[in-house]
Formats: sequence, C-alpha cells, structure tokens
Amino acid sequence: MKKQKVSIYKCSSCGREEAKWLGRCPECEEWNTFIETAVSSEMLNARKRQDKTKSGLPQTVPLHSVDPMQGSRISSGIGELDRVLGGSNEACGIMKNSAVLIGGEPGIGKSTLLLQTAASAFTKGRILYVSGEESAGQLRLRADRLGISKDKMERIEILCSGNLNEIETVLNSVKPVLVLVDSAQTLFSEDAGSVSGTVNQMKFCSYELISWVKEHDAALFLTAHVTKEGVISGPKTLEHMVDTVLYFEQNDKTSGLSETDDCRFLRAAKNRFGSVDEIGIFTMGEKGLSSIEDTGRMFLVRREGVLPPGVATAAVLEGTRTILVEIQALTIPAKGTMSRVFSDKIDSGRVSRVSAALEKHLGLRLSDQDLYVNAAGGIRITEVGSELALACALYSARTGLPLPADLAIAGELSLTGEIRPVRRFSSRVKTAANLGFSSFLGPFAAETASDEQPVSGLLAAKDIKTAIKAVYGL
Ligand code: TYD
Ligand code: MG
Repeated sequence: MKKQKVSIYKCSSCGREEAKWLGRCPECEEWNTFIETAVSSEMLNARKRQDKTKSGLPQTVPLHSVDPMQGSRISSGIGELDRVLGGSNEACGIMKNSAVLIGGEPGIGKSTLLLQTAASAFTKGRILYVSGEESAGQLRLRADRLGISKDKMERIEILCSGNLNEIETVLNSVKPVLVLVDSAQTLFSEDAGSVSGTVNQMKFCSYELISWVKEHDAALFLTAHVTKEGVISGPKTLEHMVDTVLYFEQNDKTSGLSETDDCRFLRAAKNRFGSVDEIGIFTMGEKGLSSIEDTGRMFLVRREGVLPPGVATAAVLEGTRTILVEIQALTIPAKGTMSRVFSDKIDSGRVSRVSAALEKHLGLRLSDQDLYVNAAGGIRITEVGSELALACALYSARTGLPLPADLAIAGELSLTGEIRPVRRFSSRVKTAANLGFSSFLGPFAAETASDEQPVSGLLAAKDIKTAIKAVYGL
C-alpha cells in the first residue's frame, strides 16, 4: 500500500504539535512559531495511540459496570422509519451516538426522507442538513412542497458542501444533535490522499463523520446511491462502518394496482439496535413520503365474485405485522426442453421446491411447464409461511380450478408434502378475519396448539393432499 504523507504543525519554540496552523502557541504563548512538518500516516496513528495510553496502561472495564445505552432514542417522527430503526413500543427510532446508512437507487426518495426526518424528528437540539447534491434553493423548494412549517425550518441548518473540512468546522460550531448527510458519494477531503470522488475518499470522510457523532452524543444519517453499474463503489463499502443499514426499494410499477403504484419499501440489511425483519412501507405522493401503517389490503386486488385460477391469498408475516398478499401463478407448456421458473418476488428456488413437492405428492405434472409467479403490489415475499399459498396458486393455475375468494392461507410446505406450523399463526388468522376472509387454510398443529376457542372457518391440514381435499372438497 502507498504510504500517505500527512502534515502536522510543530511549534519551533516548545515543540507542541497541532493538526492545524495556529498564530499563537497555546503552550508557550509565542507568536508565529508553528511550522508545517510532514509525517507519514502510520507515525500519526502511532502518536494518537501513544496519546491515549499516556495516562497509563489501556484499561478494561467489567461488563456489568458499563452503562447500557438505554432510553437514548430519538423518534424520527415518521412511524414507518421508526419501525425499521427498531426499539420498544415506548421508544423507537434513531439511537443516539449511532450512524444510519440509507441506500437506494437515484430517485427513490432518500433526500425526501432525510428532509422529512429533519422536519419531524422529536429533538430539541439543532439539526444539520449537509447536501452535496442540491443547492439551498432547491432544498427550500422541496421543503415548501413537503409543507414543512416555518418554525420547523428554523431549527434546520443547511450546509451545501461535500468538503469534509468545511463540514467538520460547521459541526464543531453548530453542535447539532442530528446530522443528515446527502450523500456519501459527494464527500471529499484533501487528507484522504487520493483523487476526489473515489471510494477511499468516501470511506475516509464517512468514517470521520461517524466518529464525530459518536464523540458528540449525536446521530448521523448518511445516504448513498446504488446504481446498477457501480455496485462496488456504492453503499456496500460503508456497511461495516455504520450501525444500521437501510435499503429503499420500489415495486416495478407493473402491478396495475393504483394504490400501490408508488409504494416504496424500507428494509434493514443490518441493525445493531433492532431486528432486520421489519419493513417500512411508504407511498410517494404530492407531499412526499407517507407512512402506510394499515397495510392489510394493500397487496390484494379488488375483485368481484370468483377468483381467476392461479390466484391465492397468503397471510405472511413482515416483521411483527401480518400482510395479506395475492400470489399469482401461471403455468404454460414449456417452450424449451427444460421447464423454467420466472419469479422475482418469490425466490425461484422456493418456487421450484414447492412445484417439485406438488408433482411428487399430488401427481400434478409441473416439470413440463414454464412457471410464472408474481405477488400483487410488487412486494418481495421472503417468508416461509407463504409456501402453502404458493402451492395452492400453482395447483389452481395448473388445474384451472379457482380457489374460494374468501380463503386466506398460511403454512410451510416441506419436501415430504407435510404442512409445518408457522410463527404467530393466530395473529395471521385474526388479521385475515378482520379483513373479511371467512375461511383459513393452515397447518394441522395450529388448531390443537391454539389455547383459544376453535376458530370458525379454519381448515387444518397435515399434508398437501388433505389441504387440497379440504379446499376443493374432493
Ligand atoms: P429524491 O428524494 O430526490 O430521491 P433520491 O434522493 O433517492 O434520489 O426524490 C424522489 C422522487 O420523488 C423524485 O423523482 C421526485 C419525487 N417526489 C414526489 O413525487 N413528491 C414529493 O413531494 C417529492 C419531494 C418528490
Ligand atoms: Mg437525492
């Protein structure tokens, strides 16, 4: 690796060292004695280490005597963002002394989310919004469009710069409690050595900003673009440095559901202070992003009468809430010699596994078919409890027999054809019942395990054969 040269300033009178040039030495009070001295970065690091241990040997602390970082969350004021950031019911949101990275493709809404957070965060201190992407005028225009009130704007300081030195100077004078940086890719510093705009520059500057918030009891939000071409230079390279990584995703707008056309999902890829199961669901509208808390019917298609063949309603868990999603399947004779699976919302490996189990245990020939699978509303389904609904959708598509419109389904399908119990089964049944589904197909164990009174309309099946029998009355 190339050794980097860094400059420090040394007082020619008493030998005091400073990172910046000073007119008067604070030690010996002489004027104009600081001289620039070049040192290698290793030397500088060694000195920093020495400084830390000057007072004695490095000390360990017994774990039990360490103060837990409790009660130091700031609510972002945006329900769905707080949900993804994690925390308990009383206090969820941004952890103090932490750094959150928000990644996503350009135009997905990262800057909008940042500005909305600046306006609605529950904090009394100052908020610094650093933008290397937009001018102050553009930000003001967006703030007006979002309907941010004047008194909310008062506490937000704007700095349009990507220069780390400038940002650090402002940080030290403004002392904000919340720092929002848009984006990591626009940060640069002469101290980072290499050419500006490189990954090294981005990493160096981000690291410095993360260190600043950790030392000053503040919190940091940092955005980074993901582009199809530049995966390597994007947010991935920063993931290890921050405490929380959130990715913004959008559906592909081909679903044809008007309400979900502008639906955006915020998923945690890493979270030191919470679960990574929760997703935040937003829509982008005239006034920016709005949280969708009532997601019950979001991913269902409104239909009159009977369902078309190939459609099944799955009750899936997304974090702690149940969402009902319409799964659509289509099977057509394979065009090639091999059957293919076209599915991006449900893992195609899962589709292959479920179809193999159907073929084996029901004698339903699928291996000569091309399988197309989709989820309404463009939501990506990763939960294992969706397998039984997927199996029913494939069965219905292949046989042309529609499923009952009032049926919701949850269950895991094993390779042996058995239906396994799923987490939080009763909450799924309850949500489906509230949304007007009068029957529910689930695993057999679920009924006996439930300590409440037997749920009406519950079809419990121990394997796929009895499940199909129960649904179609065959
Ligand atoms: P933006 O937040 O700038 O995305 P990013 O920072 O991730 O690149 O903008 C997202 C898109 O949303 C942009 O195309 C404009 C649109 N938008 C709205 O539809 N409504 C609004 O109120 C705002 C502010 C933006
Ligand atoms: Mg932006």
